[in-house]
Amino acid sequence: MGTIRSFEDYQEQYKKSIEDPEAFWATIAGEFQWRKKWNKVLEWDFHKPEVKWFIGGKLNITENCIDRHLPQRAKQTAIIWEPNNPKDEALHITYQQLSEEVGKTANMLKAQGVKKGDRVCVYLPMIPQLAYTLLACARIGAVHSVVFAGFSAKSLIDRITDAGSTIVVTADGGFRGDKTINLKGIVDEALEKCPDVSRVIVYEHTKTKAPMKVGRDLWWHEEIKKVNAQCPAEEMDAEDLLFILYTSGSTGKPKGMVHTCGGYMVYTNYTFRTAFNYEEGQVYWCTADIGWITGHSYILYGPLSAGATTVMFEGVPSWPDWGRFWQAIERHKINIFYTAPTAIRSLEKAPISFVESHDLSSLKVLGTVGEPINEEAWNWYDKNIGKGKCPIIDTWWQTETGGFMISPIAHATKLKPAFATLPLPGVQPAVMNESGLEIKGNNIEGRLTIKFPWPSMARTIYGDHQRFKDTYFSTFPGKYFTGDGCKRDEDGYYRITGRVDDIIIVSGHNLGTAEIESAITEHKNVVETAVVGFPHDIKGQAVYAFVILHDKPGNDETLRGEIRETVSKIIGPIAKPDKIQFVSGLPKTRSGKIMRRILRKVAEGDTANLGDTSTLLDPAVVDEIKAGAL
Ligand code: WTA
Repeated sequence: MGTIRSFEDYQEQYKKSIEDPEAFWATIAGEFQWRKKWNKVLEWDFHKPEVKWFIGGKLNITENCIDRHLPQRAKQTAIIWEPNNPKDEALHITYQQLSEEVGKTANMLKAQGVKKGDRVCVYLPMIPQLAYTLLACARIGAVHSVVFAGFSAKSLIDRITDAGSTIVVTADGGFRGDKTINLKGIVDEALEKCPDVSRVIVYEHTKTKAPMKVGRDLWWHEEIKKVNAQCPAEEMDAEDLLFILYTSGSTGKPKGMVHTCGGYMVYTNYTFRTAFNYEEGQVYWCTADIGWITGHSYILYGPLSAGATTVMFEGVPSWPDWGRFWQAIERHKINIFYTAPTAIRSLEKAPISFVESHDLSSLKVLGTVGEPINEEAWNWYDKNIGKGKCPIIDTWWQTETGGFMISPIAHATKLKPAFATLPLPGVQPAVMNESGLEIKGNNIEGRLTIKFPWPSMARTIYGDHQRFKDTYFSTFPGKYFTGDGCKRDEDGYYRITGRVDDIIIVSGHNLGTAEIESAITEHKNVVETAVVGFPHDIKGQAVYAFVILHDKPGNDETLRGEIRETVSKIIGPIAKPDKIQFVSGLPKTRSGKIMRRILRKVAEGDTANLGDTSTLLDPAVVDEIKAGAL
């Protein structure tokens, strides 16, 4: 499908994609290498729900990300790896080298008995071996399940158990700025509770001392020596599983979103090329971690299937100083730069000299993702990084959607600060009111749903199709409910206003309030807790916990510190509450339901406006909470 170069091109492609979605996607899918063509483009039913794309099609995504590029691009850099320490040398991995490394890694996994359909748990820092491992899984038809290497042992246990993984690929440790994280130690702790894991492959990266359990643990560097670089790709059905990736839900248990091979490949590739207006030879950097969907779709699969040069960055934006991003842009002559609002907001606070001392003239397109971007951050990004000449592509999407849904198209869509703008071709949004009716027309506000399938949508929650249906297809029957609220302005432009459920987005990371609550109650002195989000300058939203204690010890701060530690240990440091208020009761209805609406208002500092509290069991508790608000 032709590149979109103007707003008219967009309108034309959008129209085609709505009038005949099957023909539209078949044309795009036809540009890939299939072992066998599909018999039918689409079958779907959002009531069951069931969605299948490219039915009967056979392929391997790695043949599209690697092999098909080799005739023209063997020597082109596929991945630039920028290490944590800028004094260490960056690696330039060519497509030829990528092919060999993935082949070896795939053979190493095979030698350990990994086969098609097995779920491989991957707990690695942002090093090239993370990319090799994912592509190696895809090569042999194993399903990767990446756990972000900032998550705790408990999170690892939940994900390993839910996916039924029997093998874990990890490293001795990972670097993040001046810190070293002992990943193997966390894996060892987790595996005490995962008796089915019989193999751990450990990549030596930080040279952190890692005790190896005989019969279970193997060193990557020893095993990789035993295998060769040729690994034939497994033939996969378009609807075979490619990966599972966990995201937070409204209950404590994370949801294993399932993505399949064919549709995911077609859609991530199309959206990458289209939204960023990617041009042959450009160098692209997405600063996300591969532990999140953004890294899966837009560090690896989208860019590599497009034959781009994609950057993997191991470090953090603040180390050794706040110029780190800008220095790397200059060093690698980045053309397309994609980051998160939370990063922009913290970079904005640093002296502007960190930006000005670097040559950013290679930049052509900027992007943002993960949470609504506020106008101030948008303007700062535009002026100081894009120098007023780079479009900002504000991509709205989700782990569940697999790829961009609502987003401007570089050089085609007229931008508006803080607006994700318009749906990409193939995406059919519908805004609903609370009684379940679609709100037509413009200048409206409501809940965002999608009424027609797109190729990269998640097919189910691993092992729990009922939950998939209940979470996404029951609130508005026949439509996919995103969990987000939005406005549609007079031009039909969408502005995402944030979550309307019990998920809060802290520094771009989704956290379920129930998940944090259950972590806090693990502290021995906690009776009950309720968690809400509140606006935060840099993180976008932060965690506010109302906590009832068994008995009140002398020092509140010590106790707060302990509670934060408990959460950090159970979920990970990102989930630590910023504010912890001790209360003697929570505002509950007579049926025992916590009225979070009231707590949200208190957390936002808007106590004058609590609304109706007459249905509460004990209205007096509200006065106490108001008086003690932090
Ligand atoms: C939010 C990340 C506003 C939204 C790709 C969504 C955004 C959730 C944007 C998914 C954006 C993501 N503008 N909000 N550009 N992008 N969100 O699953 O609330 O980690 O539902 O996927 O992030 O987060 P997830």
